[in-house]
Amino acid sequence: MAQGTRIAVLRERASGETRVSATPETVRKLVGLGAALAVESGAGLGASIADADYKAAGAELGSAEQVLAGADIVLGVQGPDPALLGPVSPGAWVVAALDPFMQRQRVTDYGAAGLEALAMEFMPRITRAQSMDILSSQSNLAGYKAVLVAANLYGRAFPMMMTAAGTVSAAKAFVMGVGVAGLQAIATARRLGAQVSATDVRAATREQILSLGAKPIFVETVGGIEGEGSGGYATEMSAEYQQAQAALVSSHLAKQDIVVTTALIPGRAAPRLISDAQIATMKPGSVIFDLAAPQGGNVEGCVPDQVVERHGVRIVGYSNTPAQLPADASALFARNLFNFLSAFWDKDLGKPVLDEEIGNAIRLTQGGKVVHERLLG
Ligand code: NAI
Repeated sequence: MAQGTRIAVLRERASGETRVSATPETVRKLVGLGAALAVESGAGLGASIADADYKAAGAELGSAEQVLAGADIVLGVQGPDPALLGPVSPGAWVVAALDPFMQRQRVTDYGAAGLEALAMEFMPRITRAQSMDILSSQSNLAGYKAVLVAANLYGRAFPMMMTAAGTVSAAKAFVMGVGVAGLQAIATARRLGAQVSATDVRAATREQILSLGAKPIFVETVGGIEGEGSGGYATEMSAEYQQAQAALVSSHLAKQDIVVTTALIPGRAAPRLISDAQIATMKPGSVIFDLAAPQGGNVEGCVPDQVVERHGVRIVGYSNTPAQLPADASALFARNLFNFLSAFWDKDLGKPVLDEEIGNAIRLTQGGKVVHERLLG
């Protein structure tokens, strides 16, 4: 091992994953902190980053086995296969989006191997951790891409156009779920010239919708979530609220051309927002993009990575939308990881040391076992 901490960057192995967890920019900055960087050959190809660029930034290139040998920290976009990690140092950190609820066995295996698995998607929504928040950085790009994909599938234009041959009317776009992805979807649809409306269960989003020049569509008869909700997140709504929401949304949906759904509830399957019966009321040629597809989907009939046609409406959702923008998604993801490591970098020890608040929030395994409270019991 060179002076200081050795950080390994692996090529992603999950199907359809194009991103990479470090860029030449973050490699240079981590080397600047005193770390030794080892990048697996070909790791950046999906994001248009050549091995030579990592080398120029100060990284050593090699096979997975070579870069993992003696690694103190392993960076990934998705969690690496525990079987690969034999050569790392005892107690090494694995830092990635570990998908702990779906990849429970993998978490157990990290623990059994004596690794410290840190789930970046569990980063608390506190001001000082905003720059480390992979969910925000990736959702933002996903919200943008969802609108572009929907626009591409739509057989009409988004903006109103007055031409010599007659007028083309503006598309009506409806965004359901106004978190980070939804806000970017609203902004993107507006930039393309659509008439945009949006809904959420959190009352705080009304102002945000208005500030982007879109129309809020809200259940008025049953209380939603006042303010931001716990940690900014939604919870499951009462049956009464769900009925009121379905009735409100049904009449609105029938008039829409483009619908983007983004609703998520942490640790649960995505709430069902659009039924097949509601799709049947929509105009043929309309397009629905379901950004919640990887978490079970907001839209009945959505099949990840396929364009499904129901009642003349096309429904689309990707299993990994950020991977469709690999260069920007990697740049932001890599900066999130750098911001995380550098915020906790102890200059004297030459390695990062977590504090209790963030450590307890993201640490899944330690001392040979699973320690995170959301995974126990
Ligand atoms: P998310 O990805 O968990 O969910 C997306 C949206 O779906 C949320 O706005 C949620 O309220 C909504 N939703 C859930 N159930 C719904 C239903 N049945 N019908 C309609 N909408 C429904 O949310 P995301 O993008 O993670 O953002 C949540 C909040 O956290 C936002 O207020 C955001 O500004 C805040 N935030 C704060 C950060 C910080 O302080 N560090 C960082 C990132 C986000």
